[in-house]
Amino acid sequence: MNSDWLDLKSKLNAIFYALSQNINVFDTSFDPEIRVADPRFGDFQVNGVLDFSKKNKKNPRELGQKLLDVAKASEELSPFGMELSGPGFINIRLAPDFLRKWAIQFCGRCDFSQWLRGKTIVIDYSSPNTAKQMHVGHLRSMIIGESIQRMLRFCGANVIRDNHLGDWGTQFGILIMAIKHEKIDVFAMDPETALDEFERLYKEGVTLAKEDENYLNAARKELVLLQRGDGENFKIWEAIGTASYRTFEEIYRQMDVTFDHVLGESFYRDRVDSVCEELEALKIAEKDRGALVVFHRDHGRFREQPFLIRKSDGASNYGTTDLATVRYREENFHANEVIYVTDGRQRDHFQQLFLTVERWFVAKNIPVPKLKHVWFGTVLGEDGRAIKTRSGKSIKLKQLIEEGVSRALAIVVEKNPNLSEWEQKKIARVVGIGAIKYADLSQNRTNDYAFSWDRMLSFDGNTAPYLLYAIARIHALFRKLEISPNREYHLKPMAEFSTPEELSLARKLVNFPAVIGQVLDDLRPHYLCTYLFELASEFSSFYNANRILGEAEDILKKRLLLCQFTLHVLETGLHLLGIETLEKM
Ligand code: ARG
Repeated sequence: MNSDWLDLKSKLNAIFYALSQNINVFDTSFDPEIRVADPRFGDFQVNGVLDFSKKNKKNPRELGQKLLDVAKASEELSPFGMELSGPGFINIRLAPDFLRKWAIQFCGRCDFSQWLRGKTIVIDYSSPNTAKQMHVGHLRSMIIGESIQRMLRFCGANVIRDNHLGDWGTQFGILIMAIKHEKIDVFAMDPETALDEFERLYKEGVTLAKEDENYLNAARKELVLLQRGDGENFKIWEAIGTASYRTFEEIYRQMDVTFDHVLGESFYRDRVDSVCEELEALKIAEKDRGALVVFHRDHGRFREQPFLIRKSDGASNYGTTDLATVRYREENFHANEVIYVTDGRQRDHFQQLFLTVERWFVAKNIPVPKLKHVWFGTVLGEDGRAIKTRSGKSIKLKQLIEEGVSRALAIVVEKNPNLSEWEQKKIARVVGIGAIKYADLSQNRTNDYAFSWDRMLSFDGNTAPYLLYAIARIHALFRKLEISPNREYHLKPMAEFSTPEELSLARKLVNFPAVIGQVLDDLRPHYLCTYLFELASEFSSFYNANRILGEAEDILKKRLLLCQFTLHVLETGLHLLGIETLEKM
């Protein structure tokens, strides 16, 4: 079996397509649409006959039968059981002998690095604003972005991770004014409390400016000075950025998130004017009550709702910066694709940005990268409302992580009182942080979800502790046998999978590549979570019903292979979700 059988779904798609082209009713527009089937009916299903028949006004059952006849005569498809079902589906079932060969071939060798080879993908995630603490609202971009970038990399893309900090904007005028007003020495601030202090100063500045016009004017002046590169203000601004990033880095370290570039909004400050000039010259942007805007006349809503790229006071904004950023990513990174991970409230912004880029690049004859907005819903409290501390403030990320780890520690100490304190702490860190990440990733990202410690730290159900425990259990088995789970066995003699649990576990393993494909198509990591949870449950049924120790060699070997393969997929899967795993728990 050669390596293109790894991804059976694509392989079957290619085979059925090729076969269909020998039947005169089918033409090149036919897509077999192979799907993973409900296990009661088979392993895979050819779905596309229905669509094709509808479009071409043919009888689907008849076409299905024709395709089935050819499939049955095909040498390549001989290891599969196939039958016609419903209005024209073809169900495909993998024979035990095929499953055995597939498992032997691909155990420990699930390599998808050819899938996205040659593609350069910039991913813009986390991207918090400086001068503020990260709070619970900053969790999702970081966690979802990290997981997606890992998957893209795993599939062979050249991934460029860019943290697009919000570090330039009108808020710095107010902040610098307040800093000067209170005579704060920003260079001597305690890094532990600097961000809290900036948040307080900013609020103070807003109040002052509201109450007294002199302060408002002072803030405006500070902003202009900063924008002109005035020495003192620039140094203050830099100190704010440094203090902010130091705090962010601490969180990134704990969450195991790394970037290739940190090119914040300020990086583009000298590149925004030319964007406005170009768009105006190309007649893509127009003046509207003193501002510069872009309308998309053939769009339902954006025909009247403009995309603002220069305010009436002459200042550029979020939109202008993002336009300059796309151009930079195209020119310097040669991005084929750019992915933005932000919350759903920015959907309009990105739609308008993408439409504008399209027109701009086409007009300039620059290749337009594929632009994708990976948006997500809100994290809610257990009561279903916006998550807040008891005093109504938003919860700081740092405290949230600390709480997760300390709650996990309490559970570990209770379950494993005999472990050393060092080990308990290590497990608690992995479980606590893994639980927070998994609770987020296991939800369809476009939904809101309720944050619940009890649920995410539970050892039952679709949670990180459940999966981490499943992994540790398989490691424990290998330790008991005193063999390495990574060892290549001499697999002959290996019996065929025969018990119902062996067969359904093997079938589940076969679906791993299809699941990765599904995640890539939609950039939704929850598909992988659901799959890993189901795989771990299948494993658990298998392990409870099938003896491993004390079996004859050929049976021992097939069961160990299933353990090894499951372990490998679970560990790879969690790694792709950005979650560390443990050998002992
Ligand atoms: N700083 C923005 C925020 O906190 C997110 C930036 C996302 N990236 C971008 N290129 N616009 O909402």
